[in-house]
Amino acid sequence: ALYPVIMAGGSGTRFWPLSRQARPKQFLPLASKQPLITDTSARLKGLASVKDTFIVCGPLHAKSAAKLVKGLPKANLLVEPVARNTAPAIALAAVQVAARDPKGIMVVLPSDHHVADVAGFKRTLAEAAKIAEAGHIVTLGIKPAHPETGYGYIQVGEALEGGGRKVQAFKEKPDLETAKGYLSSGDYLWNGGIFVFRADVILEAFARHMPEMQKGLDALKKAAGKRTFASVLKKVFPNLPSISIDYGVMEKASNIAVLPGDFGWSDVGSFAAIPEVRPADANGNVVSGDSAVVVDCKNCVVLAEKRPLAVVGLTDVVVVDSGDAVLVVPKDKSQDVRKVVEALKARK
Ligand code: GDD
Ligand code: MG
Repeated sequence: ALYPVIMAGGSGTRFWPLSRQARPKQFLPLASKQPLITDTSARLKGLASVKDTFIVCGPLHAKSAAKLVKGLPKANLLVEPVARNTAPAIALAAVQVAARDPKGIMVVLPSDHHVADVAGFKRTLAEAAKIAEAGHIVTLGIKPAHPETGYGYIQVGEALEGGGRKVQAFKEKPDLETAKGYLSSGDYLWNGGIFVFRADVILEAFARHMPEMQKGLDALKKAAGKRTFASVLKKVFPNLPSISIDYGVMEKASNIAVLPGDFGWSDVGSFAAIPEVRPADANGNVVSGDSAVVVDCKNCVVLAEKRPLAVVGLTDVVVVDSGDAVLVVPKDKSQDVRKVVEALKARK
């Protein structure tokens, strides 16, 4: 069977004031009427069962996550005592999947992405599962559109016999100059952040490339399925290194395959990405909320939660009213919204 693992531990500060500590990006209905995490699980229908789905998140978000993914078995909600980034989060899920099905295929998904072509996405994942069955760590590659520094880059190698391409090199978050070089070379794909591998294969990769996790993982393996698991987790997890799967495994392992996919992927990085994932009006405005009005605006993003919100005569501006806070920012400065959160934190 396929075991979807939804990673929902991110904090996402670029969507303030909609996102707050207790309600980060994955819990916001940014691309449809339902939150991104609900979309993430729902789009797997027909490919994998929610009964085989796992969610990994922190204690602050466990309740919302369980509520927003209907049918998730209680035992499949994996709560990290503290955030340790994606490598330990994935290791925790791998231990649980391996306890049920040692060669079970995990489909690791960020909880906060959007996919436009769901059928194409599922076809790609089904193909990735076949490549993973043969022992590869598979990542989905996206054709890069601009020199983004927030992504991982994959240098594509030769075609593999069972499908996909060999990964020549994996470079997480390069600087701008390097990213520009990668883009113009034409040899690189973006890492989509969606991974497919067998539970035993990723555990073997952790053993080899992150030996500092081994003691903790052995303790978790031993406790898996037992009543003591939660207390072992509490003791062991805080001592795991805080590192992403990209730095911890993807940059180092040699059995990595990339499957290029074209399914309208977006990681909805900031308010500026909203028009990629929601329909705009004839003037390019995305207006949401029954009480929001735009007059003579172009390419604006206007989101109102409760009160009437009117925007007149502006171009390329984001205006967001969450009911208790207001944000106004030119679209091309949307990334800087995280600085608002920093400034507000510093004030406390
Ligand atoms: N459970 C859990 N615990 N989940 C986490 C944690 C954690 O400690 N940290 C992050 N996540 C979740 C986030 O909620 C998100 O869904 C996913 O894991 C990826 O984390 P991000 O923090 O969003 O990673 P990134 O965007 O910087 O980079 C990754 O994604 C890019 C594509 O969007 C990398 O895989 C890049 O290589 C990739 O290009
Ligand atoms: Mg991300």
